[in-house]
Amino acid sequence: MFITIDGPDGTGKTTLAHKLAENLQAQGLPAVYTCEPTDSELGRRIRTILREGGCELGRLTDLFVEDRAGHIRSFIEPCCRQGQLVICDRYKYSTICYQHLQGEPIERLLERNRNFLAPDLAVILCTNDAGLLLERIGRRGLGADLFESRKTIENSIALYRRMPEFFPEENFHYIDSKLPLEETAAQLSELIRQNFSAKKD
Ligand code: TYD
Repeated sequence: MFITIDGPDGTGKTTLAHKLAENLQAQGLPAVYTCEPTDSELGRRIRTILREGGCELGRLTDLFVEDRAGHIRSFIEPCCRQGQLVICDRYKYSTICYQHLQGEPIERLLERNRNFLAPDLAVILCTNDAGLLLERIGRRGLGADLFESRKTIENSIALYRRMPEFFPEENFHYIDSKLPLEETAAQLSELIRQNFSAKKD
């Protein structure tokens, strides 16, 4: 089973994805955490570019797409075939949102991502409170990367709200990122556990 966790910066995706994997493992389910950009050499190169720039936009999209294709082929699909429950922190929805914010047309981004595996469940962690997200990003003290300004966050919230329009066949589940993370993780674990059991029967 394949579950993705996506949403604007500062919503707590990474913490939630780890927490979810832990909860599911504690219930005896074979959950694994993974993320994009991946921790492969290509994924690390992408993170450097995001920090330092120096890559033309179309090329950056190509790198994300290439990283994703390798991730699906060498990790996500084999894990799913073995009956594992893959929790993926960011997926194709991030490319649609962030590379569009950088200036790529939506149609081109959808085209480039069209053939990628649809998750069984695409969780979008979101809030309309851009100020709260900015504050959380600031508290991390890591320095803002190129997507972390107020206007960009507001635009990314709007784009994440439109994902069901871009992927009408997919199974989205929106969660308010203002809810306590523990509560969200517990609710999601239950939802996933039920779906996982139903899928196996
Ligand atoms: P990440 O390290 O997961 O940051 P965060 O902790 O904020 O979620 O992701 C790094 C950045 O990569 C993030 O700002 C969004 C960006 N990104 C894209 O622009 N396109 C993509 O396809 C993906 C997967 C990430």
